[in-house]
Amino acid sequence: MAKVKTRYVCQNCGYTSSKWLGRCPSCSSISSFVEETIKEDKNISKASSWVKHDENLVIPITKVKEVKHERYKSSLFKSFNDFLDGGIVKGSVNLFAGEPGIGKSTFLLQLAKDFCKYGKVLYVSGEESIEQISLRARRLNALDENILVVSNNNLLSIKETIEKIKPSFLIIDSIQTMYLPYLESSPGSVSQIREGTAFLTNLCKALEIPAFIVGHVTKEGNIAGPKVLEHIVDALFFFEGDRFSNLRILKSFKNRFGKTGEVVVFEMQEKGLKEVENPSEFFLKERPIGKPGSVVFPFLEGAQRPILVEVQALITRAAFVTPQRKSQGYDYNRLSIIVALLEKELKLPLKNFDIFVNVVGGINIKEPAADLPVALAIISSFLNIPLKENVCAFGEIGLTGELRQVRFPDMRTKEALKMGFNEIIAPPKYKDIKEVFFNVFKKEKTT
Ligand code: TYD
Ligand code: MG
Repeated sequence: MAKVKTRYVCQNCGYTSSKWLGRCPSCSSISSFVEETIKEDKNISKASSWVKHDENLVIPITKVKEVKHERYKSSLFKSFNDFLDGGIVKGSVNLFAGEPGIGKSTFLLQLAKDFCKYGKVLYVSGEESIEQISLRARRLNALDENILVVSNNNLLSIKETIEKIKPSFLIIDSIQTMYLPYLESSPGSVSQIREGTAFLTNLCKALEIPAFIVGHVTKEGNIAGPKVLEHIVDALFFFEGDRFSNLRILKSFKNRFGKTGEVVVFEMQEKGLKEVENPSEFFLKERPIGKPGSVVFPFLEGAQRPILVEVQALITRAAFVTPQRKSQGYDYNRLSIIVALLEKELKLPLKNFDIFVNVVGGINIKEPAADLPVALAIISSFLNIPLKENVCAFGEIGLTGELRQVRFPDMRTKEALKMGFNEIIAPPKYKDIKEVFFNVFKKEKTT
């Protein structure tokens, strides 16, 4: 007999409570609790456990046999293999997150074509009809007998299909459209997303099928409660980019079978995504030479591949009493600190000026290593003095104006030199922002 349970679930973070709450104690969301009823049928809901040995086995860690993971390699996207530390691990469940329309389905269909060399690929779509998928596959030149498509949302019947076909690779597009019929909440609710992901994970582990599950994210970057899903899946990848540009960046946030923080850069073309082999060259191809306000920065998201990007600043006399400060791709709070420091340390009268900062190519820089290039771009635009063509800068700026060393300076320097930037402005060569100012802009020490 099915047992009926009621609970209240925060739709933002997945926090569960036995009674309704106005404010979520976990994520502070207001009015985010929704009543959810679960009909728990033990025969169905306990998807086969994927633990293959005796669950009570306790052995010394030294006696555990080393497992060599079998990996599927991409022939289409070479750096995708490095990104995954050698390829997709058999039986791994990977969450592929991104904003709607960014190109997730396109990427996965291309991957389907790539991986059908290993056997059947099952593409389950809850969003599009099989005709729509085939139309896209035609456009992408991704037609193959081994790619099987199905348009279905019911995870229980999808399970049957998976067990029947036993694909070598599984794509679920998207988790927001899937549902388990024994949960009474609607598709897209936190419960459905969480239980659905756990259900698929158990199934894929038991059958050793590697899977990519699409998860849509909101503008704020939430996958309808990313914290809820993060611990269930083996890997979490984000596909990012500006919809109005062709650039797409794949980032790895979690990977149980590899490193994290890596990036792969793609260009969205007429016939799908194409890997950008030299991202630095790609980002700098439209860089203005000899113009004030432009600085090159070796950006490093993970621990492997620095990419040279251009940081731009535009300083103009303030149009209103309160000057404007706008930043795209760089943290607004850090910008405020840098502006305050430039006013205090270098006596630049920035309070009378509007300041706009932009990182070219839609890149979002989180690391403080961009402080120095941002400061240099602002000074350069303010003084109307361009930096030399071969200059590249990185370094964190502290609150007293001191320059602080950042991660992997050698790797950044190497990438800069490779691209012809042989004058590197960075700590420890320079100690503080004043020293940089006097040396780079050849200003007399009058302050
Ligand atoms: P899609 O993969 O449907 O995005 P998602 O699954 O993340 O919602 O991509 C949609 C966009 O990609 C759409 O605006 C058109 C564009 N696109 C191309 O530019 N080239 C292509 O070859 C394809 C298939 C799509
Ligand atoms: Mg899609």
